[in-house]
Amino acid sequence: MRTFWVLAIVIVAGIAIVAYALFGHAGSDVSTSPPRPSLSVPVAQLAKMEPVKNINLEYHQPDMPPGPGHDLFAAQCVVCHSPRYVVDQPVFPRKTWTAEVKKMVDSYGAMIAPDQQKEIVDYLVYWHGREDAVPAPAQKAR
Ligand code: HEC
Repeated sequence: MRTFWVLAIVIVAGIAIVAYALFGHAGSDVSTSPPRPSLSVPVAQLAKMEPVKNINLEYHQPDMPPGPGHDLFAAQCVVCHSPRYVVDQPVFPRKTWTAEVKKMVDSYGAMIAPDQQKEIVDYLVYWHGREDAVPAPAQKAR
């Protein structure tokens, strides 16, 4: 008798699961949002489109004075931002420029080898810095 009830419950549950799988989602695929416009432009319409316009942006020559390590600085540091980031800083001592270059590598993903980092720090100290022991001069000329 007990086996009968267990079997009956299993069969009823099985039928319920199959019924839900087949009919349970009926109506849910009716979308309420309007159809999306196509993102592609038909080829025939391309010829009718306006030509691409040219705009000329002013180019500011970066004011990086020539000096030892200049080329390395220009190649490694100006790929992400303007060299003006350097002259916008106070005249840093060597240890601050060393930490700054390390920050570009460690935090912002600049790919600069350690010996190149040293050469760049030399340039930064030459251009807009000072040796650690020397007291800060009045702001260097830009
Ligand atoms: C991979 C990209 C990248 C490279 C390469 C890079 N920087 Fe930066 N730099 C950044 C980002 C990002 C910031 C902070 C974002 C901002 O303020 O615009 C920043 C900010 C700075 C600042 C402003 C002060 C600060 O700490 O936020 C200085 C100075 C600076 N960089 C110097 C350098 C020097 C020197 C080099 C070459 C050794 C260099 N950067 C190379 C991405 C880079």
